[in-house]
Amino acid sequence: MTHIFPDGFLWGAATSAPQSEGGQYEDGRTASTWDKWFEMEPDRFYQGRGPKNTSFTYERYKEDAELMKAINLNSFRTSISWNRLLPDGQELNQKAVTYYRDYFTQLKKNGVEPIVNLFHFDMPWWLMEKGGWENRESIDHFSFYAQTAFEQFGDLVNYWTTFNEPIVHVTCGYLGEYHWPKVFDLKRAIQVGHHTNLAHAAAVKAFRKLGQEGEIGNILNLSPVYARSNDEGDLLAKTNALELHVKSFLDPTVKGRYSDYLVQLLDENDLLPLTEEGDRELIAEGKVDFLGVNYYQPLRVQAVPESEKNQPARSLGDFSRHYNWPEKRMNKHRGWEIYPEGIYDLAMMIKEDYGNIPFYISENGMGVSEEERFMNADGVIEDDYRIEFISDHLANVQKAIEGGANCFGYHLWTFVDCWSWLNEFKNRYGFYRLNLETGERTPKKSAFWISEVISQNKLIDKNSIHY
Ligand code: BG6
Repeated sequence: MTHIFPDGFLWGAATSAPQSEGGQYEDGRTASTWDKWFEMEPDRFYQGRGPKNTSFTYERYKEDAELMKAINLNSFRTSISWNRLLPDGQELNQKAVTYYRDYFTQLKKNGVEPIVNLFHFDMPWWLMEKGGWENRESIDHFSFYAQTAFEQFGDLVNYWTTFNEPIVHVTCGYLGEYHWPKVFDLKRAIQVGHHTNLAHAAAVKAFRKLGQEGEIGNILNLSPVYARSNDEGDLLAKTNALELHVKSFLDPTVKGRYSDYLVQLLDENDLLPLTEEGDRELIAEGKVDFLGVNYYQPLRVQAVPESEKNQPARSLGDFSRHYNWPEKRMNKHRGWEIYPEGIYDLAMMIKEDYGNIPFYISENGMGVSEEERFMNADGVIEDDYRIEFISDHLANVQKAIEGGANCFGYHLWTFVDCWSWLNEFKNRYGFYRLNLETGERTPKKSAFWISEVISQNKLIDKNSIHY
């Protein structure tokens, strides 16, 4: 089968400010929570390498825009650093305005459409000290920041997104130890989730009020949920997992409301968040124009054994348990399952249950350790595994489009290898290899391959490229 993609399909890559920018305390930028956490506990970070330099984008963005053009990318997502644009949450930092304006202008000059996100796990420290998303005031602070960004860059940006994977700062920070404040408290986690949904809606409301050109969306990490079997207990686990892990953000974002099932489930377990009058109406204003879908792996679940169930629930594990599918294919470097068919299933769910809202695959990718093992004599990393990974996923994107899905693009995570939170540079994801010492970027084989795929607008065999 020949896989031809629609005209105008957005081909690109994604990153975020905290993972690529560097320039940590330059030109007025204040600390994010990641900067502070690293200062407090450097040993928590792989090889003690923190968020200071990342991929040097603060200095190299012009070169990057040219390198994107060189491999035919026509779009790119990054985020704005809240603590660079508004170092104390109120005063506008003109140097940040100059930087981002020039960054987005350079992209456009090179035929690359910027997709600009507002929050990618990087809570400013001044706000985290006041409780971060747990503090209801965060909603107004975020809305002010969003409005400032729309006003300053609205003439350059056609695609805005509010959050990247908003469920992740909830689960990793309040039900795990991967994000600050690394506490374990389901009730607090749900409060944080509700405030995040309100902050998203407040930003969408501010965008609509300004009446600017362009569209606004939200980027969600969505996984299709599969049950171990059709037994009643496994199917209940599937329903619960879908409600808690997928619909908790997807429903407010697309339908402007929480599902009745979710509200009842939380109520039965004494987990409803504190709300205020007007919350329902505000959430209703958060409906987006498009979705970004980050897809890495499916969610496989099974029933929770009765003897292990807490009632009321104290963790997500009281609603469903992870199921280790024996036939799964793994990316062992990251410990994530590889299941390209999941993209198709997600696309069909969006088509059938979410009004076929336009979406693009805003992240998909494969992090691999010690990629230098695959460097050839010319210094090119021969990442055939990544080409195969992208190809398999793109084939499912294509199948979904043929099946009527409204998918308008595909972005790889990431463009140039970038800093991966606690994992720093352990796993590399980019089309371009980053030299950590010099900042130099070198195209990998996948960069040459994608360049050809884009120019022909169809999937091609990896052995047919010359580089
Ligand atoms: C996505 C995030 O979930 O996965 C990125 O949006 C992240 O920020 C990417 O870097 C890859 O995950 P990791 O943990 O290997 O960096």
